[in-house]
Amino acid sequence: MLPITGYVDRWSVKPGETLRFMISVQGGGRYRARVARVICGDPNPAGPGYREVPVPWALEGEHEGIQQNIQLGSWGEVPDVALPGGGLGFAATVWPTRLAAGDQAVLCWHGAAGRVVLGIGADGAWARVSGPAGDTLLRSAVPLTERAWHDVACVLDREGRLHLSQRPHRARLDRAEAAALAMPCGMVPSGPGAVTIAAERGETGMARHFNGKVENPRILAVDDPAALANAATLFHWDLSRAMRTDSIEDAGPAARHGRLVNLPTRAMTGSNWRGDVHRWTEDPSQYGAIHFHDDDIGDAGWAPSLSFAVPDDWKSGVHALHLELERDGRIHRDNIVFHVRARVPGSQAKIAFLAPTFSYTVYGQFQKAGRQALITPRSLEWGALPQAPDGHPEYGVSPYNLHSDGSGVVMSTMRRPLIDKRVNQIHLVDPSEGGSGLYWIAADSYVTDLLTRNNIDFEVITDHDVHAEGVDLLRSYNAVLTGQHPEYHSVETLDALAAYLEGGGRFMYLGGNGFYWKVVPHGTGPWSFELRRAEGGIRLWETLPGESYHAQDGSYGGLWRRLGRPPQQLVGVGFSTQGEYKGYPYSFLDGILEPRLGFMREGIEELALPGRLLGERGLMGGGAAGHELDRADTSLGTPHHAVIIGRAVLTDPTYQPVNEERRDHTWPAPREDIIRSDLTFFETPNGGAVFSVGSMNFIGCLPVDDYRNVAARLVVNIVRRFADPEPFPPP
Ligand SMILES: [Fe+2]
Repeated sequence: MLPITGYVDRWSVKPGETLRFMISVQGGGRYRARVARVICGDPNPAGPGYREVPVPWALEGEHEGIQQNIQLGSWGEVPDVALPGGGLGFAATVWPTRLAAGDQAVLCWHGAAGRVVLGIGADGAWARVSGPAGDTLLRSAVPLTERAWHDVACVLDREGRLHLSQRPHRARLDRAEAAALAMPCGMVPSGPGAVTIAAERGETGMARHFNGKVENPRILAVDDPAALANAATLFHWDLSRAMRTDSIEDAGPAARHGRLVNLPTRAMTGSNWRGDVHRWTEDPSQYGAIHFHDDDIGDAGWAPSLSFAVPDDWKSGVHALHLELERDGRIHRDNIVFHVRARVPGSQAKIAFLAPTFSYTVYGQFQKAGRQALITPRSLEWGALPQAPDGHPEYGVSPYNLHSDGSGVVMSTMRRPLIDKRVNQIHLVDPSEGGSGLYWIAADSYVTDLLTRNNIDFEVITDHDVHAEGVDLLRSYNAVLTGQHPEYHSVETLDALAAYLEGGGRFMYLGGNGFYWKVVPHGTGPWSFELRRAEGGIRLWETLPGESYHAQDGSYGGLWRRLGRPPQQLVGVGFSTQGEYKGYPYSFLDGILEPRLGFMREGIEELALPGRLLGERGLMGGGAAGHELDRADTSLGTPHHAVIIGRAVLTDPTYQPVNEERRDHTWPAPREDIIRSDLTFFETPNGGAVFSVGSMNFIGCLPVDDYRNVAARLVVNIVRRFADPEPFPPP
């Protein structure tokens, strides 16, 4: 647990709107808080230097903090479930995925009269009945098979005997897995109570989280275990219902509905999935299973610590709430980033920096093994935040991780500390001499720093704003600029950007691997995203058969390219190659001399010539072309009139083609065709234009020589022309 950390309830805010910060101080105690507008988020002493402007704030100063905790692990809760007397059966169908984790609860009832738990573990199904007289535990002692379906059940008969059974849906040839046994128990709990699914209540929170799929959890009126199949239903949670929500519905006579906690994965194939249906909406009954994980996380639910309405005089920009805690003679710090918008979009500036907050969220808490150990010494030396997600697994995983059971992480959430989405933070030890090793918000500040130093006014907006307000928001600006990595998009954000360009907007895509994966926001809003990594794509995991459609809206998931919207159609370039962080220079091509691009060469006429280099130095990987790179390709939608003004072909052996283009063991094309990045310009209808760099490390070359270099000047020239409402004539 970090000594002090927290999260904010929204990525962006307008003056007059309320921000809520949820803060935790380990063990409680006083902490200091202040707000600053961040100019440059890079802590590298050999770089442009971390810079910010203090912002007067009514809550600045000391506050009393409390410790707030995160309970990982998903489960289902049904609050009001009264059990009648008489014989009772608890039953479910399960597909366990992590038997080595030990005893895990599948279905639990607890009330004043006691507790009944049906579970599974390393040695098969178990049932535990607890009451005033103590516990009775019965184990099958016959192990189950992981990732196979089993029926498990326990029955408490009127004589007070506890029966336990398990039965595989498909018998193994090498061992028997069915089991049925009984023992005296002496009690049948009844009366008011509550049910939990996939976990049971422990002393300090939920315990014994189940890993795997649960289907048809139900409680039956039955006295004879042999009669389970035909027993009368008391409660039956049909998990194929209410699929787009966090609700679970009881199909039984009492209609005791419940809710899911911590975002387990829905729309998962059930035991009856035949393979003839891949979209759950076509036959929800084949999707009656929910996959629970002991490390799922949704809304951490912390109490608000600092809430305030943003004052009118706060200028649009990237802001940070700085938190400080003094303990044992040391200062512990964290910061929480938020974006202040103009009250009326476009009223402060006609240029917008579009912060990729969808991608910040999806990538939040990417636990990469070894990163913490790698960055700690340098972070401390530079006075940067020393935290990394692999050093703090208590804040949960990201869709760049596998769950503890090896399954892919589908859900992401911003309602928990995103400890790697900060300013004054490095991401890695840069492989180049003097490099900063930045990523995300700290890296994106190079763009806003460049604008600030050139006295170019801008506002900030976020993916979340574009998702909510659409093209109308974008139309408030003459030009919109992205950061390093706008990878994740919803239908709404892509539609808005496409409509903006269609209507004469100007767009500068200053990153790489952009507009790549589809995400679908949670039904209650984009604080959480669902991500189905279907088919191709550079990815840590892929969807299992039949599970490529989102639960939240029933739509197909995966790469926008596979959904008929390759990035080249939008911004002229699309993902082509990925490698380690090492950067390379671009060379200007003949295109830079196109008369219609004369504005780009202003003040750099002698440098921006075919064959001359740009971005041969950089604070991210040592060069402008690096990490994840995009190419222009008319077959994928790059307009035929697009001009490639510069190109980098990378020679480092770590750079490999994206796998969606690989069909066999050979590369799909020669190096110069695919292991490259293209600086691409094209006009759009109604006087608009696009400029794309197609490289994640490009913006790292902007600060070189105090932002006075040919690449920085090129970008400034383009920003100035894009901000000018004078239409771009058709080529
Ligand atoms: Fe990416």
